Amino acid sequence: MIVCICNRITEGEVRKAARDGAPTPDKAYACLGCDVQCGCCLDYAQEIIDKERGKRPPLRLVA
Ligand code: FES
Repeated sequence: MIVCICNRITEGEVRKAARDGAPTPDKAYACLGCDVQCGCCLDYAQEIIDKERGKRPPLRLVA
């Protein structure tokens, strides 16, 4: 499944980058030779990274 349409990055690629130590989508994308472009994918990519690294996603406060 594609996570980042702009860069055609798959969920598997994001998971692997997370396992290799990338803590954020921009670091994961950099590991893949890409940069963040539109940013639409960042929340979902961060969720994938957090799960892969065994972290709970950060709490989101609703105003
Ligand atoms: S969908 Fe990932 S940067 Fe645009």
